[in-house]
Amino acid sequence: MSWERIADLTDLPVGQPVLAELAEPVCVVRVDDDTVHAVHNVCSHQYYELHEGYVDDCLIECALHGSSFDLRTGSADSLPAVTPIPTYAVKIADGGVWVDVEQPTNDAPVPRH
Ligand code: FES
Repeated sequence: MSWERIADLTDLPVGQPVLAELAEPVCVVRVDDDTVHAVHNVCSHQYYELHEGYVDDCLIECALHGSSFDLRTGSADSLPAVTPIPTYAVKIADGGVWVDVEQPTNDAPVPRH
């Protein structure tokens, strides 16, 4: 695994997506006091940036056409997107949020133009 510290936990606002520019662009979302999810930042529909979207519990809605993705699994839960997005391992340690983008935790294809 290849962990990269992306922020202090206290600097991540709950319910607000944040872009982390790692080897892949990653959308990081703190959903409650001690739960953080990380997914690929590119929508699988027409490649809009998901950190511009809206969070509702464990879903993130793409701001361009409204598809929702489950932050836990990467599944596309509403049209027009039908393809899941990669999810990444997250750990909270030493007061920081760490993400491993080396190996996604699901088998979704990496969105490419
Ligand atoms: S680009 Fe995200 S739903 Fe169309």
